[in-house]
Amino acid sequence: MRETQLSAHDFVLPLFVSEKLEKRRAIASMPGVFQFSLKEIVDEAHRAQDSGLQAILLFGIPAEKDEQASGAYAENGIVQKALRAIKTKCPDLVAITDVCLCEYMSHGHCGVTRIDGDHFHVLNDETVDLLVKTALSHAKAGADMVAPSDMMDGRIRAIREALDVNGFQETGIMSHAAKFASAFYGPFRDAAESPPQFGDRRSYQMDCANADEALREVALDVAEGADILMIKPALPYIDILWRVRERFGKPTAVYHVSGEYAMVKAAAEKGIVDERAAVLEIMTSLKRAGANIIVTYWARDLAEWTRQ
Ligand code: PBG
Repeated sequence: MRETQLSAHDFVLPLFVSEKLEKRRAIASMPGVFQFSLKEIVDEAHRAQDSGLQAILLFGIPAEKDEQASGAYAENGIVQKALRAIKTKCPDLVAITDVCLCEYMSHGHCGVTRIDGDHFHVLNDETVDLLVKTALSHAKAGADMVAPSDMMDGRIRAIREALDVNGFQETGIMSHAAKFASAFYGPFRDAAESPPQFGDRRSYQMDCANADEALREVALDVAEGADILMIKPALPYIDILWRVRERFGKPTAVYHVSGEYAMVKAAAEKGIVDERAAVLEIMTSLKRAGANIIVTYWARDLAEWTRQ
């Protein structure tokens, strides 16, 4: 009689690969999450596949950052190198890549910035040009799907067109269609070494108070050619998840983010909640609320737990 069942195929594991490391580095606020070296990342991808997962979401941390985010679209950038290695060893694992500039920008913003006195602006169209180059370079290196997480306007259409004219008609787009400016990204910014050096991301990420606007944002991405719609973070936005799935009926993903992970981990370490029971409840709730795909740092544990 159980209406909602979980299985390993529901989950996507985020993985961080760093150009600067020889050996893994633990992320202090996210127990169990690491930055991996290029050499290690292939084994991690393999472990993910062996655990029964179908897909990973790859993030890169470059050795050098600059104001054009050139590491994001370099032919021999860290993600491009990792992709080639992963797809050689695990051709059947679905490799999804984060497409964003914040990890590669010296100032940590998700786009090209211009500073006018006390104000800074993120320049939408200049940023979209760089996102297109990034997505295309990932596709060339073997990405099965790209996941733009920047929230610039018009980037889904621009990426779709560039992929199509370059022969990547089958490369999918998982759009961060409604991504909210959130306090729950804190630990990720440590993990990806991408905190903004000035200002915040409120000019391009959404206000947590706005649900109708989220639906308008999602509608744009649907019209522009997104294959999978992602809502992020997860639990505080479960109403948005439900409405998006109901309204658009498209494959819908949710990103259970770093701060959401860190909260449960911290509580579990103190003996306040039972980690496994709490995580299974959260994931079942997200699926019940309409998620077809859940991106979570527990993906590998969940593959194990749902098999038992
Ligand atoms: C931006 C990006 C962020 C996350 C994924 N991609 C953070 C941000 O916008 O600051 C957050 C993921 C998490 O918190 O787990 N490229």
